[in-house]
Amino acid sequence: MCGIVGYVGARPSQDILIAGLARLEYRGYDSAGIAVITDDGALEMRKRAGKLKVLRDDLAAHPLTAGNTGIGHTRWATHGGPTDENAHPHLGDDGKLALIHNGIIENFAELRDELAGQGYTFKSETDSEVAALLLGREYRELGDMLAAFRAVAGRLEGAFTLIAVHEDLPGVVLGARRNSPLVIGLGEGENFLGSDVAAFIEHTHLAMAIGQDQIVQMTADAVVVTDFEGNPVDTTSFEVMWDASASEKGGWSSFMAKEIAEQPEAVANTVRGRVRDGAVVIPELDGLDDLLLGISRIVIVACGTASYAGLVGKYAIETWSRVPVELDLAHEFRYRAPVIGPDTLVVSISQSGETMDTLMAVKYAREQGAKTLSICNTQGATIPRESDAVVYTHAGPEVAVASTKAFIAQMTALYVFALHLGRVRGVLDPADAAVHVQELESIPAKIQRVLDEEQAHVEQLAHWMADTRAVLFLGRHVGYPVSLEGALKLKELAYIHAEGFAAGELKHGPIALIEPGQPVFVLVPSPRESPLLHSKIVSNIQEIRARGARVIVIAEEGDAAVLPYADEVLRVPLTGPMFEPLLAVVPLQIFAMALATAKGLDVDQPRNLAKSVTVE
Ligand code: M6R
Repeated sequence: MCGIVGYVGARPSQDILIAGLARLEYRGYDSAGIAVITDDGALEMRKRAGKLKVLRDDLAAHPLTAGNTGIGHTRWATHGGPTDENAHPHLGDDGKLALIHNGIIENFAELRDELAGQGYTFKSETDSEVAALLLGREYRELGDMLAAFRAVAGRLEGAFTLIAVHEDLPGVVLGARRNSPLVIGLGEGENFLGSDVAAFIEHTHLAMAIGQDQIVQMTADAVVVTDFEGNPVDTTSFEVMWDASASEKGGWSSFMAKEIAEQPEAVANTVRGRVRDGAVVIPELDGLDDLLLGISRIVIVACGTASYAGLVGKYAIETWSRVPVELDLAHEFRYRAPVIGPDTLVVSISQSGETMDTLMAVKYAREQGAKTLSICNTQGATIPRESDAVVYTHAGPEVAVASTKAFIAQMTALYVFALHLGRVRGVLDPADAAVHVQELESIPAKIQRVLDEEQAHVEQLAHWMADTRAVLFLGRHVGYPVSLEGALKLKELAYIHAEGFAAGELKHGPIALIEPGQPVFVLVPSPRESPLLHSKIVSNIQEIRARGARVIVIAEEGDAAVLPYADEVLRVPLTGPMFEPLLAVVPLQIFAMALATAKGLDVDQPRNLAKSVTVE
C-alpha cells in the first residue's frame, strides 16, 4: 500500500530516492520521507505530510547532507492519519537507525504494550514505529544488526516489507518481506531496493525478486539473501522487459490519458506469441495439459476492476471450454468455506500481483489442494510466485490509480486462456477458434478507431454533464461487467454516485431510481451478432425512456434500431459478441476521465485510493 525505495552505491542517494519515490507514488501519496547515512556517518531524515512534491520542495530548499546510502517511503495511511509524525521513516529510540514499512503489523498492539512497559515512548500513531523501536532494542541486546533485524522480522505478524539503515553500518541497507513486495535492482557498483521495479528502472533492468519470509543484506557490490533464520536461499534474477519511458507521462496530460491511448498496444502485446497456426497456444502453459484436463471447475478470484474482467472471463471460459466457472470477490472467498479441491482451478486476476485480498485467496486455495493460475501484469510479483502457473498480461506499467489498459489486457488474457482451454479439452471447434483468434487480432485497430472517432464526442458529453450527480449504466451478457466498470471509473475518478446493473434486473427494483433527466448509459450488443439480446435491451431502453431517463447508448456502427430512443449515440465497430467489452469500455473510461478533468480533479491520484491494496 506504500512505496519503498532503497539505494547504496557511489552516487548521492537523495535524488535517486526521490526519483524512485516519484515512480512509486501511485502506491500511496499522503506523505513521504527519506533517510540517508551521510558521508560523515550520521543519520539524517526528512519527512512531510502531503504529496511527494511537498517533501521534494522542502529538500530542494534545505537538502540533507550528501550520503550514498539511503531509504525512502511514500505512504498510504492505515494506522494514524497523514501527518509529519506518522510519515516514514521511523527512528529507533537513539536516533541512529531509520526504518520504513509497508503493510500491517497485526500484533503491533501487543508489541507496543511490551515496549511501553520497558519505558519506550512513541512519536507516531503507526504500527510501523513499533518495528523501529524493537529493532533498536534488539540491536542493543544482540550487538549484531543483521541478527537484530532477523529477530524483529521473526516477531512481527501480518504483512510487512521492512527496510532499514543504521549509522553503525554505512553502506548497508537491510530488507525483509512477508506478504508484501520487495524487489532488488542489481546495478554496477550500486544496488537498489523497491516495492516494484519502477523504483529503479531508470538505473538498471536487472532485477531479483525476494521470496516470502526472506531477508536481504545489500551493499554497493553484493546482495545476500537468507530466510528469517539466516539460512542462505536460492535466488534468480530476471530482466525487466519494459523501459523507463514506459512509466513516464511523456507529453500526455495525465498517466490515465496515456494509458487509455496505449490500449491497442496492450491487447496486441497480450496476444502476441500466443497464436500458432490460427489456434491459441500459451507457451507458459506448456506441459500443463494434464492439469487443465483434470479440472472440473474454475473459480476466479479478484477485486475491483480485475473482478469485472473476471466476469467477462466467466462468459468466455464457459462458452469456449464448457468448464463451469464461478466468480468470487477475493476478500469474500476464504471466509465463506468455498467447496474447492484438487479438481478446482482457482484463477486469480491482479494487475499488481500484490493485492492482499487476492493473495490470501490464492494461498487459501492452495491449502485446500486446488490448482492455481495467476493472470498478472507485474513480473516477479507475489501472487504469480505463489501460483502453480502464470499467464502475464503485457500491458506495460500502469501508473494511474484507476485501471484502464490493465483491464483491457486482463480481459484479453482471459479470452486467450479460454481459447487455449477449449482447444486442450477438445471442445472448441478449430474453425470457430480460428474465427475468434482472427477477431481478437483485429481488436487493436478497432480500439484505435474508437479513440480516433469518439474521443472528442465523449469529452464534449462529459463537459456538458459536469454537474451530474448520479449516473446509471446498463448492460446484458458481457455488457453487464462493462456497466460495472463504467460505474466504478466514474465513482473513483469523478466522485459521482454511479451504479452498474444487468439491464434485465432493472425492472426488479432499480428502475425506481429513474426520474426525468436521469442519465443512463446503455451498452447495446450487436443486432447482427446477438439479435435476441439486442431486442431485449432495446425494450429495456424503452422502459427507462418512458420514465424520463436521458439515454446515452454505446452501439455498433450502423445500428439504427436504437436511434429513436437515444439522446446520444456513441459508436463502436462491429466485433464478435464476446469481444464487445474491449471496445465498449473505452468511451466509458474517456467519459470518467473527462468528467473528472472538467471538475478540476486529479485523474491519476484520486482521493483516498492507492494503486495496490496490500492490506486486507
Ligand atoms: O492490482 P489489482 O488488479 O489486484 O487491483 C485490484 C483492484 O484494487 C483495482 O482493480 C481497483 O479496483 C482499481 N482502482 C480500479 O480502477
